[in-house]
Amino acid sequence: MARILTGIQSTNQPHLGNILGAIEPMVQLSNQLEHEAFAFIADLHSLTTVKEGGDRRHRVHQVAATWVACGFDYSKNRLYCQSDLPEVTELTWYLNCFAPFPMLANAHSFKDKSSRLADVNAGLFTYPVLMAADILGYDAHLVPVGKDQRQHLEMTRDLAGAFNHRYGDVFVVPEAFVQKDVEVIPGIDGQKMSKSYGNFIDVFLPEKSLRKVVMAIATDSTPLEDPKDAENCIVYQLFSRIVSADRALEMKQNLEAGGYGYGHAKQALFDALMERFAEARERYRHLMEHPEELEAILAEGASRARPILQQVLVRVRAKLGFGSLPA
Ligand code: TYM
Repeated sequence: MARILTGIQSTNQPHLGNILGAIEPMVQLSNQLEHEAFAFIADLHSLTTVKEGGDRRHRVHQVAATWVACGFDYSKNRLYCQSDLPEVTELTWYLNCFAPFPMLANAHSFKDKSSRLADVNAGLFTYPVLMAADILGYDAHLVPVGKDQRQHLEMTRDLAGAFNHRYGDVFVVPEAFVQKDVEVIPGIDGQKMSKSYGNFIDVFLPEKSLRKVVMAIATDSTPLEDPKDAENCIVYQLFSRIVSADRALEMKQNLEAGGYGYGHAKQALFDALMERFAEARERYRHLMEHPEELEAILAEGASRARPILQQVLVRVRAKLGFGSLPA
């Protein structure tokens, strides 16, 4: 049975890009019998940017509620919070001691910020190593992620390969699973949808606020009656990823024919979002009103994930010579 695993940072409410790029592919894979799925909330990673402690667990709840609301079967699989299994930081240290400086200096997560080195903390610099520990610590085979995480997965594979080369087969070498048709979901300004760009669509917003966000999607100034370039229209790009191929084609033809304005397209996108996420919105609202249910799910997930992480640590410590000698 292949083990699939993925994580979402708890820096903010997960957005449409996270849902289409990682959560839904994971839910689909996890429903296949040959897979055992581990989903987690990367709250330790969030500390590289979010320093406020006050609502850290609330953010964890938002991500956990999103997983459950989007259909992740937590009773068959495992849903846990990264920091509830602090053993992962021990594994991170071991891996840190094998992570070459040039590899880390080449990571996008660091490079994006490297023009202002004073803002780069050591956690941000070694971010890919904690991510490698997340994956290698649970013997994961397949990691469903968006395209932006591909490089981190390559680093995980490199670290595992180098370690195995030196010490024998200690780690499973994982593979990334990136769904072609969803690769990068654009935000309302056309850049990659991202928590840090503030251009994201939170499908769990109250109806009025969600409508406002959709209406704010950037469009060009082509007059209503003129034909429009559907492929370059952000509204169409988002719409086509959440509806059937037939409905997407209908909007494309409408845009290209003229007489169909961006306002019409935005209204259609808003309706489609409300329709597609109707059940998820309901479940999400319920869970956020009952954090005790989320805590119970996370506690159970952590207790079922822990033995696997501990076994991996036993293997690693033995190879590295840590631990007391038998009497
Ligand atoms: P994060 O929290 O930035 O994003 C979570 C997942 O959502 C995907 N994603 C997108 N997919 C398509 N279009 C977008 N606009 C978009 N934005 C985000 C990401 O590719 C990701 O799959 N480092 C990770 C969290 C993490 C992790 C791990 C993932 C920590 N440890 C181990 C996998 C395995 C991150 O920051 O994801």
